[in-house]
Amino acid sequence: MTAYDTVIHGGRVVTASEVFFADIGIRDGRIAALAETIEGGERRIDATGRLVMPGGIEGHCHIAQESSSGVMTADDYYSGSVSAAFGGNSSFIPFAAQHRGQSIAEVISTYDGRAAPHSVLDYSYHLIISDPTAAVLAELPGVFARGITSFKVFMTYDLMNIGDGGMLDILTVAKAHGALTMVHAENNDMVKWMNRRLAAAGLTAPKYHAISRPELAEEEAINRAVSLAKLVDAALFIVHVSTAGGAEIVRREKLAGAKLFAETCPQYLALTRADLDRPGMDGAKYICSPPLRDTKTQDALWRHIQTGTFESVSSDHAPYRADASGKFLNGSEVPYPKIANGMPGIAMRLPYLFSEGVVKGRITLPQFVQLSSANAARTFGLDKKGAIAPGYDADIAIWNPAETRIATQAAQHDNMDYTPFEGIEITGWPDLVMNRGTIVVEKGELKAERGRGRFVARKPVDLTGIPGHRAGELDPARNFGAEIAP
Ligand code: URP
Ligand code: ZN
Ligand code: ZN
Repeated sequence: MTAYDTVIHGGRVVTASEVFFADIGIRDGRIAALAETIEGGERRIDATGRLVMPGGIEGHCHIAQESSSGVMTADDYYSGSVSAAFGGNSSFIPFAAQHRGQSIAEVISTYDGRAAPHSVLDYSYHLIISDPTAAVLAELPGVFARGITSFKVFMTYDLMNIGDGGMLDILTVAKAHGALTMVHAENNDMVKWMNRRLAAAGLTAPKYHAISRPELAEEEAINRAVSLAKLVDAALFIVHVSTAGGAEIVRREKLAGAKLFAETCPQYLALTRADLDRPGMDGAKYICSPPLRDTKTQDALWRHIQTGTFESVSSDHAPYRADASGKFLNGSEVPYPKIANGMPGIAMRLPYLFSEGVVKGRITLPQFVQLSSANAARTFGLDKKGAIAPGYDADIAIWNPAETRIATQAAQHDNMDYTPFEGIEITGWPDLVMNRGTIVVEKGELKAERGRGRFVARKPVDLTGIPGHRAGELDPARNFGAEIAP
């Protein structure tokens, strides 16, 4: 019997801290050995001239999810996971979204039915909470025990916004269980006020979506979200940061010791609000929230990526087709507030980050691994993923760093009818993607079966080394001995 099911040989291995030549021996879906040379293996994969990296962990994507206004994403767990794999990912964490009135048990059972029979990749869920009633809060420990250790909340959208009090309640329960609260931070009233003003002036074309959601709306909400989390000293993850001001707040509060994490997304680096002003209703394809900004913001976000403000660059893949099933469910010429928010990008996240980040010299290879998988593994509690080391899942992506292609919709594997990255030249593409030792994609072909992916029960967020914040009013030594915190 040979010692390894698979041996990957001759490649340059990239981890979150090192780049070195090594062979990798894989047994029973796990990495069993790393050595200068490994002989044998039932299957030998030649990675000469290639980079061998942890498969990406996509931490922010909307798959088989209805928006709050009832629009279903074009991608289900099959097309979503296939598309993710073609983009260099070995696992992903879509959202399981509660809509008002639903119990959490109902939500999880719905998403189990949507995911388990179809996903080709390992998956977990972040639970979206839109209705934090006492009954719902009481269900959260059970969700946590099942290994769903992150809860997402919204500060915007009337049907999702849970208010500051609701957020404090969730942060408190999350803290008690070691869960991470994720937040979409935009000031709802500022946006609604802008919407009313724009509508009154007859300014309803897609480009006004960007005007309706000011940078200040994000900055104010990030500041408020961080303050709420600090009050109860809970862990917080700010999703899709799109502004320099928002990123500055994250950096400042992290330096001050808050239990704070954040991400930005490729669309905020590649596109601007000028894309919303494309002819006809084409701008609708670029409607997402927070909205696209400008080139100055792109430069600032890159500097924050380079200098460690963000744990991850995530796709925020929210695939609504540019037809009556998606963007134009409410009609083809409707005002921007009636157009579904979000754009696809699950397969473009890592090639874009590699090409614009590594190839253009903005980030190192280890930074690429940190931003694409290693940090997500730590933040979201995937303790067997995001590293190339003995004992870890053989979640591996082999990249050709020299291959140049132009991104096109025709080359995508999602269920969409456009890619916002159309025509962008990308250097560096994954050749082979593996999840727990099974080849999922190889040389442009899907090799894995529908439903082979497994649900991954996640661990609590790792807060080691983060001092946190003790609000004086919650400290019994300074508040007349009152025990207010859980
Ligand atoms: O516009 C976006 N980003 N849609 C997806 C939902 C969300 O807010 O993340
Ligand atoms: Zn969001
Ligand atoms: Zn999102």
